[in-house]
Amino acid sequence: MDDLREKYLTLIKDAGDESGLEELRVQAVGKKGEISLKMRELGKMTPEERQVAGPALNALKDEINAALAAKKAALADAALEERLASEWLDVTLPVRPQRRGSIHPISQTMEEISAIFADMGFSVAEGGQIENDWYNFDALNIPGHHPARAEMDTFYMHRDAGDNRPPHVLRTHTSPVQIRHMEAHGAPCRIICPGRVYRADYDQTHTPMFHQFEGLCIDKDISMANLKWTLEEFVKAFFEVDHVELRFRASHFPFTEPSAEVDIQCSWEGGVLKVGEGDDWLEILGSGMVHPKVLQNSGIDPNEWQGFAFGVGIDRIAMLKYGIPDLRAFFDADLRWLRHYGFNSLDVPALHSGLSR
Ligand code: PHE
Repeated sequence: MDDLREKYLTLIKDAGDESGLEELRVQAVGKKGEISLKMRELGKMTPEERQVAGPALNALKDEINAALAAKKAALADAALEERLASEWLDVTLPVRPQRRGSIHPISQTMEEISAIFADMGFSVAEGGQIENDWYNFDALNIPGHHPARAEMDTFYMHRDAGDNRPPHVLRTHTSPVQIRHMEAHGAPCRIICPGRVYRADYDQTHTPMFHQFEGLCIDKDISMANLKWTLEEFVKAFFEVDHVELRFRASHFPFTEPSAEVDIQCSWEGGVLKVGEGDDWLEILGSGMVHPKVLQNSGIDPNEWQGFAFGVGIDRIAMLKYGIPDLRAFFDADLRWLRHYGFNSLDVPALHSGLSR
């Protein structure tokens, strides 16, 4: 028995891998293993002999099994150590210099707009993209029969048959944020409201979802002159030029009186869009003095307060500034386009450091 113990403990100690170890197990304590065969011989012994040999054989079997288990664990540990050493990775290496993601030109443009208006004392307000028709239309002095409702190509939310509650719509402009803001905060106020708006329209300069920002300035003595100055300052700062030709055209909106649409001078030569030259005009915004009824609908006394409002197409001015000829490309999610027109995520637009370096 001592020979057997010596033999197997040595063999186990020297085993190189798990399959070798398994062979040893079978050879020693498997069904026909050397130790198992010895145990069968117990039957041929005298009771006295058996009393000594039985426990000794059992103890030997336990010892061999324990040695096998310990060696198996040691082999597994060694394998893991080896794998950890070979798959070693230095996480302190600096990141690769290639730019992965980029800021979409629309997001960039919104940041630039916010920076410019923040500098003029405007804060940013936001509203929901689903509105009820009071906020999107009625409160803005667009009653049910008004042609402006049809002109807007509104998307109406689904209503179950027999549901006669006022419909919800995907907001067709950011103007409802005017009402919600005045209702909640009163006058005076100075805000811009950037966001998504929706109309059923699709061609080179229209997409069913697009972006606007609303401007609203209410105080005791705000006039059309303030509106004109504000828009001119904005356009110059946004296009990063000293001079841009704007065209104010008398217009009509139910929620402003008087109203003006503003076009910006541009050229489309060779499919390239350029601002401040040529003899084309692109309409970029609608504006005017807030209609007294709109103030009233928002809980503000029109005899005490007055002001201007405007709504600008963000996509339009982004196209103009960055020379993007087709609006639809903004929303195609084409990686090559995004890499070409996208902005570095670490450059935050600010007036003092240059808006769009
Ligand atoms: N809401 C108008 C539009 O979407 C724009 C506008 C806003 C006009 C504010 C005047 C005042 O066309």
